[in-house]
Amino acid sequence: MDYNIRHYVEIDSTNTEAHRLSLQDAEEGLVVVAKKQSAGRGRQGRTWESTDADNLYFSLLLRPTITPQKAPMLTLVMAYSVANVLRKYTAAEIKWPNDLVLAGKKICGILTEMHLDGTAIADVVVGVGINVNQTLFSEEIASTATSLLAQTGRRFDNDKLLLEILRAFEQQYEKFLQAENLSYLQEAYNQILANANREVRVLQPNQAYQGTALGINERGELMVRKEDESIEAVYAGEVSVRGIYGYV
Ligand code: BTN
Repeated sequence: MDYNIRHYVEIDSTNTEAHRLSLQDAEEGLVVVAKKQSAGRGRQGRTWESTDADNLYFSLLLRPTITPQKAPMLTLVMAYSVANVLRKYTAAEIKWPNDLVLAGKKICGILTEMHLDGTAIADVVVGVGINVNQTLFSEEIASTATSLLAQTGRRFDNDKLLLEILRAFEQQYEKFLQAENLSYLQEAYNQILANANREVRVLQPNQAYQGTALGINERGELMVRKEDESIEAVYAGEVSVRGIYGYV
């Protein structure tokens, strides 16, 4: 993939900007990076604190020729790619489907947004926020957020980190487009899955239940063993999975 990186000092949201450029026919591989976001967005309508210029905020524009139901798997492909880069320096793990955690706290969040043209995918924007060199967090997130600097004691170069992530993602994306599922990744992913063998509470719009997270299947769904021993495959759409004994 040919990446085309656009740097901004400040933007509302890199996801929003990537989509605006997509509407102007930007090509797959466009990367929007900002030092700060004035309206950074998280999943489920939450905001993503993005005032600290020491962090990495970027969005990647993709135009995969897959069916829309398969698009949520791209979040997992990105999470795995970022995890592999961060694991060169730390013991980061994946919290399914869209977070990375380190020392039990969140270090990265991913927001994947798809836009359709009729029933086909027009674009998928994968937005990534990584706490890199931030040391002070707002009261709301201080107990659940951490950064690379806070955990390792060293500062990281955001541009280098971005290039490493893009290189890692490119390899995974190629394999994903060939397989159109996560069979090639499932085992490696499950090995760095923070939720594995933990008690989780699954919150879906119409139901909530508790169980033990087992790992992902080849569709990227989280397999959860419920209290009655039945196994539920949780789709990474509008769902939130919480640890029973803490954030993970
Ligand atoms: C989450 O954990 O809820 C997802 C957070 C995603 C944040 C990133 S920062 C870059 C990109 N632009 C946004 O507005 N959000 C994503």
